[in-house]
Amino acid sequence: MNLARKTMNAPALAAVYEHAWRPTMFYLASGRTTGTDRRDAVDTLRLSGPMKVLDIACGPGNFTKYLSEYLTRGGFVTGIDYSAPMLAKAATDNASPRVGYVRGDARTLPFADGSFDAVCCFGALYLIPDPLVAAREMIRVLAPGGRIAISTSFREDNLFGSAASMAASLSGLRAFDGDVFPKLFARAGLTEIDQRIHRFMQYVDATKPV
Ligand SMILES: C[S@@+](CC[C@H](N)C(=O)[O-])C[C@H]1O[C@@H](n2cnc3c(N)ncnc32)[C@H](O)[C@@H]1O
Repeated sequence: MNLARKTMNAPALAAVYEHAWRPTMFYLASGRTTGTDRRDAVDTLRLSGPMKVLDIACGPGNFTKYLSEYLTRGGFVTGIDYSAPMLAKAATDNASPRVGYVRGDARTLPFADGSFDAVCCFGALYLIPDPLVAAREMIRVLAPGGRIAISTSFREDNLFGSAASMAASLSGLRAFDGDVFPKLFARAGLTEIDQRIHRFMQYVDATKPV
């Protein structure tokens, strides 16, 4: 297991992730606050009504519970993560009647095809050993007409981008070219593909056609 994955499994990180680690690290990487990222998630996933939502690599549930607050009765957000310390923190800090947490691997999601109206994966694809397998799993479990949204690392196509990407890879993090996820989504037949770049982060969302 590489350094980045070991860090994500550490109880000490789970303890400080939501209120200290995430706001600091993601602000440095993207120039955006967690509040902005959360509001964008609600907008891009088009949350409303009794939707069924899947939050992949949910960490301590810091988006999971927030997203559930935009659903009405019957709506539900499932958070899935492989880290037991992160899920323990989710269960204590971000529990709600409209939220449930499952331990599992993003590369082999334990859900049937088309189970969710919206699927997201924020700040994690760069940690997963087979990120494209995980992205295809997201599309598989998304229902026709559903929305998908990711945020992940972005590598500029220049010398600086290559150097930053090499430095990140030493700790086990990957940086993705800007065309990787838009192309994967387009090849899978998704529509309304939109991508926004903020410093070292990219945000991509799309719709699965009916
Ligand atoms: C940086 S946290 C992101 C938490 C939250 N989504 C956010 O945006 O703040 C990354 C999470 O990805 C999880 N993770 C990494 N690889 C995974 C995998 N293969 N399957 C499920 N979860 C994974 C880690 O356990 C960790 O909780």
